[in-house]
Amino acid sequence: MSTACILITGGARGIGLAVARTVIGLGHRCVLLDADGDALAASLASLGDLARGEVVDIADTSSIEKGLGVAVGDWAPTHLVNNAGVLGRKMGFDEMDAIEIDRVLSVNLRGLLLVTSAFLKARRPHADAAIVNMASIAGFNGGAPGLSVYGATKGAVLALTRAMARDLAPAIRVNAIAPGIIETDMQRGVFASEAAMNEVVAAIPQKRLGSPADVAEAAGWLLFGAPYTTGETIRVSGGRI
Ligand code: NAI
Repeated sequence: MSTACILITGGARGIGLAVARTVIGLGHRCVLLDADGDALAASLASLGDLARGEVVDIADTSSIEKGLGVAVGDWAPTHLVNNAGVLGRKMGFDEMDAIEIDRVLSVNLRGLLLVTSAFLKARRPHADAAIVNMASIAGFNGGAPGLSVYGATKGAVLALTRAMARDLAPAIRVNAIAPGIIETDMQRGVFASEAAMNEVVAAIPQKRLGSPADVAEAAGWLLFGAPYTTGETIRVSGGRI
């Protein structure tokens, strides 16, 4: 297999960083795009020579246009992991805030589309080319109470995965991962207390939260080990649906 270069959004921490570690472990390059410059610098310092990155806000079209070229340089990407996402503020259906709705849509949905489009223009063809979209089990179950906008964007990612798989075949396989509850900065803010977290864990068939490495394991398989799989979504949720 020739050396690949994986473009990863939201690669500075959490699941995106774990995916970067996995692909580097397989000997591939990765280019990280993240809106958080401090976290990105710290992560790049820990990843070594096979990683580069640039501060890019995927909600901002001009930031993607400017940042992607700088980040990639002569490392044309062969694979893409659309991972960056935001949970958004909790809102009931009777208290929807237009600015907050737009913020979540602009990262989780519009940003994913714009980055995919930019990747398709910048990419280097590769025998094993693939895209992995980070969805969520919220895309199936609607999301936690108050997080319906997030759930709706993730449901859209499931639909987009099928559409992208159809339109980009046979050159590029496109699959999604639907993580359950994974221990990251995003997730830490969700539980009101340790007791609330323990109650949720008790309802997970595997009786534990997931780790970013659990999700990265599935991403590595979808990127490099699933030659006849496209348009699919894999739950990585310890059995939670
Ligand atoms: P995280 O919040 O720990 O990390 C997300 C990274 O994305 C951060 O480094 C952040 O700076 C970056 N980011 C956010 N907005 C951005 C933007 N506009 N432009 C560029 N970078 C941006 O999140 P985590 O938990 O690692 O989640 C990664 C993906 O997995 C997200 O799409 C999330 O929705 C999804 N997911 C996470 C679950 C969990 O339990 N942690 C469960 C299901 C899905």
